[in-house]
Amino acid sequence: MMDVNKDVQRLKSLSTIPVVMKRILEAAGDEHKGHGDLGRIIEHDQSLAERVVAMANSPYFGHTGLINNIEQAILLLGFDLVKGLAISMSVFKMFSKTEALKANRFWAHSYRVAIASSLMCDKIPVTTPGVCFLAGLLHDIGRVVFLSLYPEKYKPIIFEAGLIEKERELFGVDHPEVSGMFLENTLIPDEIIIAVRFHHNVRDCRKHKGVATTVYLAEGIVSRIEDDNTADGQWNEEMEEVFYASGLSLDDIKFIEEMLDEEGDSIARFFEL
Ligand SMILES: [Fe+2]
Ligand SMILES: [Fe+2]
Repeated sequence: MMDVNKDVQRLKSLSTIPVVMKRILEAAGDEHKGHGDLGRIIEHDQSLAERVVAMANSPYFGHTGLINNIEQAILLLGFDLVKGLAISMSVFKMFSKTEALKANRFWAHSYRVAIASSLMCDKIPVTTPGVCFLAGLLHDIGRVVFLSLYPEKYKPIIFEAGLIEKERELFGVDHPEVSGMFLENTLIPDEIIIAVRFHHNVRDCRKHKGVATTVYLAEGIVSRIEDDNTADGQWNEEMEEVFYASGLSLDDIKFIEEMLDEEGDSIARFFEL
């Protein structure tokens, strides 16, 4: 049996991970590093900085056109959110150029789940919307890790139905587990790591169940509007039960779908779909 965990740890330490990613992870793991340090690290990678600034200007955050640089982004969106955006983006940069289209689809999917999670977080106040947003953004990071580690094996199944089962068959572990391996020891808040780890299995989630639930439900809502099978959790009866048990209503789904629709243009522009 292959040792996926060992491969993940190797990937984390390899030079193929952009250097800036390593530095952000180190800064994220060092409580003594401040705002200026993070800004400088991100600015070191111009394309990463541009993407973080572009995302910070998306209508969802409410500061469209006001943010010109990383410092402003940190000031207006907060240290943790910008750190999370930078980490997520540098992870997505692990895709090679030929995988660009797949990467864009992932990005758009992750971004939609992030928005839907944080909107639901407003309705079920489990934690801050920022935490839900990041958990949504990072929720499928394990798929990116799989693709980076085993491209030949993973490419054929990456957008297939029954993804979890296929992953277990091929690798002995699934992408939520791999996400956990990848995010551990990064000082990314526990509630985010747990939500990512349990986003397909909220039943077994004990701690921070609320955040995991928002990501799980967000995935389902997003799957209703994504017609290209990028979503790996389809809206089903079990999800509907959890949805109503969380005190949400059909109006909430409508509201979230409308918001995602409004964001549609900026998502397409940003991810060059
Ligand atoms: Fe997933
Ligand atoms: Fe997903």
